[in-house]
Amino acid sequence: MGRILSGIQPTGAPHLGNYLGALRQWAAMQDEDDCFYAIVDLHALINVPDPDELRTATRNVAMVVLAAGVDPDRCTLFLQSHVPAHTEMGWVMECGVSFGELSRMTQFKAKAEAREFVSAGLFTYPALQAADILLYQADRVPVGDDQRQHLELARDAAVRFNSRYGPLLTVPQATLPKAGARVMDLQDPTSKMSKSAISPQGTIDLLDSPDELARKVKRAVTDTEGVVRYDPAAKPGVSNLLDLLSAATGEAPEALADRYAQYGPLKADVAEALNELLRPFRKRLAELQGEPSAVTAALALGRQKAAAVADATLERVRDAIGLLPR
Ligand code: AMP
Ligand code: TRP
Repeated sequence: MGRILSGIQPTGAPHLGNYLGALRQWAAMQDEDDCFYAIVDLHALINVPDPDELRTATRNVAMVVLAAGVDPDRCTLFLQSHVPAHTEMGWVMECGVSFGELSRMTQFKAKAEAREFVSAGLFTYPALQAADILLYQADRVPVGDDQRQHLELARDAAVRFNSRYGPLLTVPQATLPKAGARVMDLQDPTSKMSKSAISPQGTIDLLDSPDELARKVKRAVTDTEGVVRYDPAAKPGVSNLLDLLSAATGEAPEALADRYAQYGPLKADVAEALNELLRPFRKRLAELQGEPSAVTAALALGRQKAAAVADATLERVRDAIGLLPR
């Protein structure tokens, strides 16, 4: 049985990329492994969200995670800010990674370019992420492809810590899904699907109705060649649709491509397969929307279980680095 940790930010509405890249794996892992899943509300502060929007987004993301099949009795689901050890360990990690390492993070560079106010938190964010992971001594971290570089940094931080202070921290590994690790925007298929997309038509929100989903897939950007072929570089739009169908059916995208002569029928099947895939999710979500206290209770339980593990690691870290006992 391995130890798993992963996180999702409560910013805006979770989308299909979150589901296929992360949440689906989260639910699948909880029977085999000892899983810790964090809603990383401290990370969301780097965007300086409106307080009411942050509160709403945090509750919504918790509900979506539960609806995706994450079961608070079989794993630990918690809010990052409820376990103060994260902030403390975050500082230790900030002092253990270099300015140069953080400067090389491609996500930082992309996000810093796109905004006027670049918070120091946006820059040090991967150190806090390393803290999230290392506090739980996680062996594996299920994430989408965009988190690969942050995971490398967390590994480097653990290796460096251990060589300075002795073998205390588990060196984690990223686990990427076979299909769905990088879901692309339906309107701009060379960019990943994200909560901050320019056109809302490009992002399939997990709260979209089946009809809205079908409409967005139908309008997805393809190309004028008119041939169904899996070629992500030359045909990003069509290849993304094939990747989605592959993620939903488990078949290879190349094999799926052979079955279609035209874009229309491909899109119809993608929409149908995704709606089928999301059917149990939507059913659970509707149930949870009627009982918000279930979400509060799950987070209260998770907070206790998470704090027990994180505090124990933090005590050992504090001692190892030379802080006096409190
Ligand atoms: P975030 O919404 O940035 O907090 O991401 C939460 C999880 O979803 C992380 O594991 C990401 O790697 C994953 N993820 C985000 N966007 C995508 C995408 N377009 N395709 C696949 N996985 C994604
Ligand atoms: N940086 C991740 C993202 O944007 C979220 C995250 C924070 C995370 N801490 C984590 C993911 C720890 C995995 C493990 O998606």
